[in-house]
Amino acid sequence: MGPDYHPDGQVGAVDFKIAVLGGDGIGPEVTAQGTRVLDRVGELFGHRFSFREGLMGGISIDRLGTALPDETLEVCRSSDAVLLGAVGGPKWDDPAAKTRPEDGLLRIRKELGLFANLRPVTSYPQLLDSTPFKPEVLEGLDLLVIRELTGGLYFGKPKKRWSTTRGRRAVDSMAYSEQEIDRVLRLGFRLARERRGKLTSVDKANVLETSRMWREIAIEIGKENPDVQLDHMLVDTCAMNLVRSPADFDVIVTENTFGDILTDEAAVLAGSMGMLPSASLGGANLAAGWDQGGGRSFGLYEPIHGSAPDIAGQDKANPLATILSIGLMLRLSLGLDTEAAAVERAVEDVLAAGHRTPDIAKSGEPVVGTEAMGGLVLKAVRGPA
Ligand code: IPM
Ligand code: MG
Repeated sequence: MGPDYHPDGQVGAVDFKIAVLGGDGIGPEVTAQGTRVLDRVGELFGHRFSFREGLMGGISIDRLGTALPDETLEVCRSSDAVLLGAVGGPKWDDPAAKTRPEDGLLRIRKELGLFANLRPVTSYPQLLDSTPFKPEVLEGLDLLVIRELTGGLYFGKPKKRWSTTRGRRAVDSMAYSEQEIDRVLRLGFRLARERRGKLTSVDKANVLETSRMWREIAIEIGKENPDVQLDHMLVDTCAMNLVRSPADFDVIVTENTFGDILTDEAAVLAGSMGMLPSASLGGANLAAGWDQGGGRSFGLYEPIHGSAPDIAGQDKANPLATILSIGLMLRLSLGLDTEAAAVERAVEDVLAAGHRTPDIAKSGEPVVGTEAMGGLVLKAVRGPA
């Protein structure tokens, strides 16, 4: 597994194995554009990518009765990175159902140890008028949310529902260990240092014990990292500041549920969910510290949008979030920074040339479909100079 790097930093003929889990709705349509772009990068830069598909989500429930079969996990474990489309849809939404597509998502994160979810939010100048914000609010927007992904309310025990003589009761538990908090905070410091050196740790320390421990650990790690400017912010205040002065943020690090909510809010800043990529990182390398992995880590990459069943199969979905996720994969899991930058640059060029999928088009503007947008990016990727 993993590429072989020559001592001089030159990459030899490397073969990367990528697991592709299309999932439901528009998922397979957007992952298809992602793999196309990756193939093009391979041609231009001399890498080989082999794609191995796996079932996950509603389609997997229908065929196998489970949202995430063990075979899919095996394919992921023996790959260098995972590309995921989206899971879910009305067909599997019955609250009484025994298993749901989302169960597959939670399980894959846990089983692959993907404890840090990175969601970068930038504003594209070309899309400024597709957001509900005044342009001056978005000026200079470039933030990264790191969401803890395998702890807290989503996974804590007890987690159950039961009946009593006085009615039904239910409980979810927000639980964290020191290690779980420590590793994601350290990643926050590391990534803040590589950016503008500002880290905002978001908690609810005025109410929650887990948050008080989170803040205590953040302060301790902060003392070891005096070059990073650490601030603490309550999650409700953060929700407000994200729309009031989003450009003030550099890196935000927070626990699972807070991060889930804040990242949907932050997505509005970018103009469309169809533009936002994400990386879920984990593995032994990362737990041991970013440096140990040589700046690389195993990861799962997905657009942050959902399966959009209303437009599935109609060639209307925006593939750019998936293509930008490929950019993150190249940089964070495969150690291919130049290739990552080439993909990101290609997306910018295509937007600058005025090409739009329906979600980012102004009314009356001509639009292109999923496949055509993928093709435009593919053509815009530049090889080594
Ligand atoms: C996300 C999604 C998932 C989550 C759901 C689908 C389980 O909202 O990735 O943000 O809450 O983590
Ligand atoms: Mg969410």
